[in-house]
Parts: sequence; C-alpha cells; structure tokens
Amino acid sequence: MENKQPIGIFDSGYGGLTVFRSIANLLPDYDYIYLGDNARAPYGNRSFNTIHQYTWECVQMLFKMGCPLVILACNTASAKALRTIQQQDLQKEDRGKRVLGVIRPTAEVIGNYTKTKEIGVLGTKGTVQSGSYLIEINNFSPDVKVHQQACPLWVPLIENGEYDKPGADYFVASYLDQILSQSANIDTILLACTHYPLLQEKITAYLPAHIQVVAQGDIVAKSLQDYLYRHPEMEKKLTKNAMQQFFTTSDDTPDFNHHASLFFSAQVESEFIPLR
Ligand code: DGL
Repeated sequence: MENKQPIGIFDSGYGGLTVFRSIANLLPDYDYIYLGDNARAPYGNRSFNTIHQYTWECVQMLFKMGCPLVILACNTASAKALRTIQQQDLQKEDRGKRVLGVIRPTAEVIGNYTKTKEIGVLGTKGTVQSGSYLIEINNFSPDVKVHQQACPLWVPLIENGEYDKPGADYFVASYLDQILSQSANIDTILLACTHYPLLQEKITAYLPAHIQVVAQGDIVAKSLQDYLYRHPEMEKKLTKNAMQQFFTTSDDTPDFNHHASLFFSAQVESEFIPLR
C-alpha cells in the first residue's frame, strides 16, 4: 500500500458496491479501497449519533490506509453524518483530506428525469426522516414535487441475500404501493439507497411501464469525474495503478465475497479489517 493514494469508498455494507461499479467503469485507472461495515449493517434504523460515530470511524480507517478522498457511497451516512464530518471532524484531520456524499450529486440532476415534475424517493428510515432529499432537490429544482417512502425492510432483505427470492416480492410490492398511493403523477422513482439496485429488477417489473426507475451509480460516478476535473490539487495526489481492494468489518469474508461479487458484477476477494 506504500505510496498509494487511493480513492476510498465507504458503505454500511454491500450497497456502495453498486456505486463503486459505476465509478470503476467510468474512471478505471485510479486506485480504490472499498470498505463495508458489514459487522454493523444496516445503519438505516440507527440514531443520528450512532450513524455519525460509525461512519467517522470507517472514514478514519480509510484515511489510515492512505485515501485522501473518501466517498460515502451510502445515503444514510450522507444524510446523517456527512455534514458533521465536513464541518467539524475534518478540521481536526490533516488539511487536504476530503469526504463527499451521494445525496447532493443526485439531487442536482434528478429534476431532469421527470416530465410530470413529481418524483418518488425510496430510502432508509434515516434518509427519509432526515429530509435531505426534500431540501436538496428543492434547492436545485424548486418546481419538482418530492414524495418519500421509507423501506426499512429492504436493506435487511438484501444484506441477507434474499433480494432475488420470491419472498422479497411481498415487501417490494408493499412499499411501492405506499409511494404510488401518494400521487398518481409520479413518473420517476429514485432509488435513494445504494442497496436498492439489487431489487431493481423486481421494482421495475412491479411498477407501471410509464414510471422510470433511477439508480445513483452512474450519477455519482459522473459527479466524481467532474469533481476531480474541478479539483486538480486532489486529482494529482491520487495514484493510478487500477488497484481495487475490498475490506469488510465482518470476519466472514467468504460470505462477503459471495454477495459482494453480485453487487459489483465481478469477482471480489476481500480482507477482514477488525473494528477497534
Ligand atoms: N446503502 C445504504 C444507503 O444508501 C444502506 C443503509 C443501511 O445500512 O441501512 O442508505
């Protein structure tokens, strides 16, 4: 790892791999370290303080592994921890370290997807309760009406490998019925949780054909590309050997590798990194 300055990508578990896959496709030359806090996932129903504490611990682990830039590829962490990390925690770190989230880049462009100007945002309880999407989308697209629905059982289903099983159908239908009942004009559903692309096939199959489903991976990847273009001081620090390393806080690395390979659409070999 010596002299390597990779981009760190963090999620509570597997979900961030759907974002990492898009980032690695668009920006394949950089070095990357992925960290999933699977030992403590899901984060979605946890308190503000706990999500901040867990996220900051993991960000510091990525800093120690040499990452000058960390992407929180997790909406819950972006909603609950990013502001405190950017405004308080980073002040105590070396200058020049940066942490970015996934909500702002998504909110910036999601207004362009809807014709009816009504979108549905699906996320964890934490993301929905934070109101982050309501605020951010309103900043960029004040003419867009945002409906939200928390789907607290989806992440546990996905983390436990049930996303493609018939049992998941009931929970997919149940939350989609709830968001659709909020308005007949919704034409765009945003998967505002990086785990949800694993259910995308079931979600798309259940929704009427005129409703499009938007996942965040490609949006976040494009936004990172723009960020690096606008911040040459960061871009030139980052090393480019196309290294991809995967760490999990769970000691069951074979299980992580199995699920992670599906999320990442490529073989994943992970290493266990214990929490202190
Ligand atoms: N991937 C995380 C997100 O985007 C899942 C959160 C969780 O662990 O519940 O919100």
